[in-house]
Amino acid sequence: MNTNERIGLWIVGAWGGVGTTVAVGLAALQAGLADETGLTSALPEFSDLDLLEWSTLTIGGHEIRETTYRAAAAELHRNSNVFTVELLERVGDRLEQFDRNVRVGTVLNVGPTIESLAADSARATARETAWATVERIGRDLAEFRQNNGLDRVLLVNLASTEPPVPDDRLQALRSLNWDDLERRIRDEQPCPVPASTLYAAAAMLAGCAYINFTPSLGSDLPALDELARRQRVVHCGRDGKTGETLLKSVLAPMFAARNLKVLSWVGHNIFGNLDGRVLDDPVNKATKVRSKDHLLQEILGYSPQTLVTIEYIESLGDWKTAWDHIHFQGFLGTKMAMQFTWQGCDSLLAAPLVLDLVRFSEREWRRGGCGVQAHLAALFKSPMGTTEARFAQQFEMLRAWAADVRRNPQRSDAS
Ligand SMILES: NC(=O)c1ccc[n+]([C@@H]2O[C@H](COP(=O)([O-])OP(=O)(O)OC[C@H]3O[C@@H](n4cnc5c(N)ncnc54)[C@H](O)[C@@H]3O)[C@@H](O)[C@H]2O)c1
Repeated sequence: MNTNERIGLWIVGAWGGVGTTVAVGLAALQAGLADETGLTSALPEFSDLDLLEWSTLTIGGHEIRETTYRAAAAELHRNSNVFTVELLERVGDRLEQFDRNVRVGTVLNVGPTIESLAADSARATARETAWATVERIGRDLAEFRQNNGLDRVLLVNLASTEPPVPDDRLQALRSLNWDDLERRIRDEQPCPVPASTLYAAAAMLAGCAYINFTPSLGSDLPALDELARRQRVVHCGRDGKTGETLLKSVLAPMFAARNLKVLSWVGHNIFGNLDGRVLDDPVNKATKVRSKDHLLQEILGYSPQTLVTIEYIESLGDWKTAWDHIHFQGFLGTKMAMQFTWQGCDSLLAAPLVLDLVRFSEREWRRGGCGVQAHLAALFKSPMGTTEARFAQQFEMLRAWAADVRRNPQRSDAS
């Protein structure tokens, strides 16, 4: 990076599986103990974009459970056989530095399953008013920036998946501008938006960028996009595309291009980490299933029968197995099937994507961009700002953005 800017990465869900792997991964990259395999932003075609360097980043965040990066990483190692003991020893001091920046988050409007994970200190936050929560989050971000001499802070939502907002309420929220939504967050009891949206609003009001790696609502409201533009910060989401859905977005266009009619697409997912425990609640699961399911209709232009299951199988730890069965019809009515099995380590697939999102977002923001970043669609299951669901086309959008950054390192419309 040509500037001397210092960048903060603020993780909501700091000590979760993905949050911990981001911290371990960043510390390893900073210490020269890991290579960049798995990072899209490290591809040669993005090497001349002046993306941020790992050494400029520091981590802080919000949590509702009490642990530390060292303890959370050791647990991931024990349960899922990821990281080496040697690596964890060598990055231990840096993880302790990151721990010092973690603050108590909020459990306001997260639903009973997430609330049940929380320590007493975090449970108490449900009694705060929604606006007091927004202000407290803002103060934590300001303190992080000041204590660490940071020029920019990007907040990434890596917290547990919230229950969906009911459709009628969502529709009403979508019709509001920021001033109206702010008034409602200040005045209305119970608060009309979930915690993820309070974090998004607080981040933007504090002049921070916002990235939603989860399927929770976050900044996916016109009012929040308006706020982002007003505050001249970038935002993007929702739900990192790391495994089964990545394959769907690659394979479904193939069936469409060969005029093969998909009759049904069944995807069974089993895994055993904390995310899986939360998604075992049918209410929280509904948010995730929706995020994994909608793209087939968007890509194919019709709705085959679909089934997505997500089951918590504790012994699997962070290792997810997805088995997909695609039943399709070819020439002369002949029915055929394709099946695939995906066995991925969830946090190790997600963490590099988080770092990519931070790098790409920071670059767009630094050149004067603001508002929703549709060109990051290839990295999300339910991308905001575009209806393009095909992976190859989404990747072309990222390439086109890169070409534009090369031509215009500073945007002409930036104030
Ligand atoms: N491959 C992947 O792992 C992947 C892909 C796409 C999306 N996601 C999403 O990313 C999120 C994180 O995944 P994970 O595997 O790390 O889950 P996790 O359960 O291990 O971590 C979530 C963390 O968030 C904390 N948390 C919950 N609510 C909070 C709140 N309101 N404020 C602050 N902290 C809160 C929890 O205590 C926990 O430590 C989940 O929503 C998941 O669905 C993960």
